[in-house]
Amino acid sequence: MKHPSPYAAPGFYDDALAKGRHRDIVGGRWDETPRIVLPLLTQHGLTETDLLLDIGAGALRLGRHLAPMVADYWATDASRALMLKGWETELDEACRNRLPQDHLIEDATFAYPQIPDTITLALAFAVFTHLPARSLYDALTNLRPRFPNLRRVIFTVFLAPEIHTGPHRQKDGVVTHPDRFPWHMTETQVRQIAETAGFTATAHPHRLPRGQVMFTADPD
Ligand SMILES: C[S@@+](CC[C@H](N)C(=O)[O-])C[C@H]1O[C@@H](n2cnc3c(N)ncnc32)[C@H](O)[C@@H]1O
Repeated sequence: MKHPSPYAAPGFYDDALAKGRHRDIVGGRWDETPRIVLPLLTQHGLTETDLLLDIGAGALRLGRHLAPMVADYWATDASRALMLKGWETELDEACRNRLPQDHLIEDATFAYPQIPDTITLALAFAVFTHLPARSLYDALTNLRPRFPNLRRVIFTVFLAPEIHTGPHRQKDGVVTHPDRFPWHMTETQVRQIAETAGFTATAHPHRLPRGQVMFTADPD
């Protein structure tokens, strides 16, 4: 494929948003995903005192629940228009009050512009499943010096067996690839990327939508 993910195709967001498909852009499962993921975030240390950065937040499928749960919520995504569509159509009044629109930052390179350096926890759910390993490296490498108070990163990837070079069928049927979307990595690869970026990563055996695997990564 020419682009690392469908998101990178020219006009992708404009076309899908014009068709009213902001939920589909992030994979649907609008209620199921937060129902499964939110308790896991709490289990892995998210608290009401956290200043949370939601990387690749999309249409705020999780963000609409997370913003009222934490002390401060900031989000990035390759498309600010997608986040704004979620803000306009999916947030109730109380959540809008907790999430000013200027906390939604367009960022496709994991540079985290305009995000306060006081962030304590970062989340990237179902983002690196759509991008090559290089993006995980960039995201983690840039997080470390940018946010000195960061105590944990929670992210998901698709995994493939260690000795494996081709496509891999995940438990719920989706076929992932080492060299194109949807992307997989090996657990060793994830741990090495994290280590190079200054984190220790741990995989957790939760059942997640589409068979993706949750990792926590803590600064060394
Ligand atoms: C499957 S969606 C997940 C959205 C959100 N995390 C959730 O769980 O609802 C993947 C998201 O990654 C975003 N994305 C894709 N490439 C990106 C990049 N290079 N930088 C930041 N976000 C990106 C997409 O716009 C999309 O919103």
